[in-house]
Amino acid sequence: MSTSAPTSYRLVPDPPPVDAYLRLRAESGLSPKKREQAEAGLPGGWAACHIVDEATGEPVAMGRVIGDGGWYFHVVDMAVLPGHQRRGLGDRVLTHLLDTIRREAPAGAWVTLMADAPGRRLYARHGFTETAPESLGMGLTL
Ligand SMILES: CC(C)(COP(=O)(O)OP(=O)(O)OC[C@H]1O[C@@H](n2cnc3c(N)ncnc32)[C@H](O)[C@@H]1OP(=O)(O)O)[C@@H](O)C(=O)NCCC(=O)NCCS
Repeated sequence: MSTSAPTSYRLVPDPPPVDAYLRLRAESGLSPKKREQAEAGLPGGWAACHIVDEATGEPVAMGRVIGDGGWYFHVVDMAVLPGHQRRGLGDRVLTHLLDTIRREAPAGAWVTLMADAPGRRLYARHGFTETAPESLGMGLTL
């Protein structure tokens, strides 16, 4: 019989520290980013949260919203460390971010994201629908 206690998690309604952000992106399989990008980007978000594993004190999940506070809101950086996936943490992060928009933004907020395959069912459960073919996501890296 296992004697290990069930993992408990705490949601923090702020972005993760820079080191944790870089690790969360890289280890969850998102494109790795440079420290200078994280340092410039994290303070510029509209909302963010991360989830800490109480056993280790380490951030294991995160998500952010960038936006204008009026009606444009874009969900980014949805990431859960592989060892902590499929425990509802992605759902907790997205629920927190959407609740924040519902609470603080004027009615009619337009919430978008770029849906990589691993997140599509999660996003669909929260009401996101595909915008193609009328509107295709496009990107440009400078
Ligand atoms: C996408 C991602 C953030 C989802 O995080 P997550 O914590 O695994 O998400 P959840 O646990 O809330 O939900 C994922 C699945 O686990 C299931 N689940 C939730 N709790 C569970 C539990 N206790 N036991 C078993 N399954 C569970 C959910 O029902 C869901 O199933 P489905 O998607 O097959 O319908 C995560 O997979 C990830 O970081 N992927 C790599 C990075 C990435 O691609 N990010 C998205 C960029 S758009």
